[in-house]
Amino acid sequence: MNFMKHFTLFVAVFCALCLFVMPVLDAQESNNPGLKPILSHYAARSFIAGAIPKADLDLILQAGIRAPSANNRQPWQFTVVQNQSLAKQIVSNNVEGNVLIVISASGDGKTNGSQILDCALATESIYLAAQALGYGSRIYTGPMDRVNRDLKSSLGLPNGYSAVALVRVGRIQSGADAVSSASSRKDANSMVNYK
Ligand SMILES: Cc1cc2nc3c(=O)[nH]c(=O)nc-3n(C[C@H](O)[C@H](O)[C@H](O)COP(=O)(O)O)c2cc1C
Repeated sequence: MNFMKHFTLFVAVFCALCLFVMPVLDAQESNNPGLKPILSHYAARSFIAGAIPKADLDLILQAGIRAPSANNRQPWQFTVVQNQSLAKQIVSNNVEGNVLIVISASGDGKTNGSQILDCALATESIYLAAQALGYGSRIYTGPMDRVNRDLKSSLGLPNGYSAVALVRVGRIQSGADAVSSASSRKDANSMVNYK
């Protein structure tokens, strides 16, 4: 009798896990190689010192360059900040070896058609590519006003371009994983509707 009670409880808990928990984990931890970086990314919080090889940087930049844009206008400029004192002026807690990739849009950076959306797509591709290669990455827009006001010439931005975002790329402690590191997201039911 006692055995039956425990067995029934075990089956109930197992079914509940299958119904509610597994699909969530499955979504976050898909082994589909294309979906994995998209579903398990997170904004790195703590970086450790260490250089990023040029070959990896080139791949990360290729991901930005390959991003789609309206009418394929590619209205962006990528500025790779490796100079640590310049990087510290932009992100004050920059860690030695971090690379800041500043994404700038042609136009005034605010009002021109889809440039901002195009640059946002390139930003996301860079952010995801860095994590796919095992680095930590984080998108920043907070420093952009200061960058556009004070640092355009230090960054060598071409005339007519304004910075819209940057991606910080750097080494992270191995072992940090998406489930423990990412913040939660709103429930899908609150933001998805089907018609
Ligand atoms: C457009 C945009 C701007 C952001 N700006 C900043 C920023 O200025 N400073 C910062 O620390 N994080 C910034 N973030 C990082 C977000 O806080 C982070 O992506 C969000 O909290 C989700 O984190 P998670 O993916 O680790 O859960 C920005 C992210 C995006 C997409």
